[in-house]
Order: sequence, then C-alpha cells, then structure tokens
Amino acid sequence: MTSSTTYGSGDTSYQAAGQLSGLTQLVNDFYDMMDSLPEAAHIRAMHPQDLTVSRDKLTLFLSSWLNGPRLYSEKYGKGITMPQAHAHLPIDDRDRSAWMECMNLALQKQDYAEDFKAYLLTQLNVPASRLVTLCKRHHNK
Ligand code: HEM
Repeated sequence: MTSSTTYGSGDTSYQAAGQLSGLTQLVNDFYDMMDSLPEAAHIRAMHPQDLTVSRDKLTLFLSSWLNGPRLYSEKYGKGITMPQAHAHLPIDDRDRSAWMECMNLALQKQDYAEDFKAYLLTQLNVPASRLVTLCKRHHNK
C-alpha cells in the first residue's frame, strides 16, 4: 500500500483518484449528494439551479489541484482564484462541514485506496477552512 506521505509527490494523487474519469465520477457523486442531503440544502441553494457547469469546474479544478493536467485554466482561464470564486458567498463553518460531508460520502462510493480517501479529505479541508476565514472577513462576521 502507498503511504499517505507519497500522495503529495508528482501526480500520484491524480493517478490514485483515477485520472479524469475517476474525478468526473467523484464530483458527480459529490454534487448528487449535495443535491439530495437535507443537511446540504443550504449550500446547494448557493449554487446555480443547473449544476452542469459546477460539476465541470470542480472536476477540472481538482485535476490541476492534484497535479494532473491543468484543465481548469485551459478551459476557464487563469483569471479566477479560489478566494475570488467564493468571496461573494457567506460561507461559515456549518457550510464547510456540509461540503466536507458531501465529499466524504462521495469518496466512500469510490473504488479508492482507504488511505487515499483519508488523505484527500484532510487535504480538502485545508482550502475549505481557509475559505471560511476569508468569507467571514469579507462579510465582516
Ligand atoms: C467550504 C465550503 C465550500 C462551499 C460552501 C462552496 C460553495 C461553492 C459555490 C456555491 C460555488 C458556485 C459559485 C457560483 O456559481 O456563484 C462554488 C464554486 C467553486 N468551488 Fe466551492 N465551495 C466550498 C469549498 C470548495 C473547495 C474546498 C474547493 C476546492 C478544493 C472548491 C472549488 C470550487 C470551484 C473550482 C468552483 C468553481 C469556481 C468558478 O470558476 O466559478 N470549493 N463553490
């Protein structure tokens, strides 16, 4: 089994996530969770009615984020950063928790190594927590 420390090197994480087809499946399951879980209804409501573009953007973003192909900037341009993409949203810790729970449940549906699922959740919690701090500051909370 690969130790979790190696997931950060090269494109190991991108490979462990099943490349683009694996990420597409993960993100589809993630947004399906968000679309159906009552405890995620408040973050679902922050998104557009049609989740097609949201699904595509998160999939392509995660490809670069895991050191795979830079698909997000190729398609959507380099002009946007994560803070900018979320600053208009009043994201608090309850929102972060709901987002992480959708991701946790989606990860459980994937045929990934158990230690990779744990690694990915820990890693995703870093920008998620940063967004809470940033959005609170932006909204003077
Ligand atoms: C902390 C909880 C989070 C919440 C509540 C949240 C919510 C949202 C919402 C509502 C949108 C759509 C904005 C719009 O269409 O106006 C969005 C976009 C996006 N989010 Fe998040 N998000 C969270 C965390 C994250 C994390 C951790 C990542 C990546 C690691 C991420 C990646 C993205 C991407 C790539 C987009 C599309 C940006 C764009 O090009 O417009 N989000 N998010």
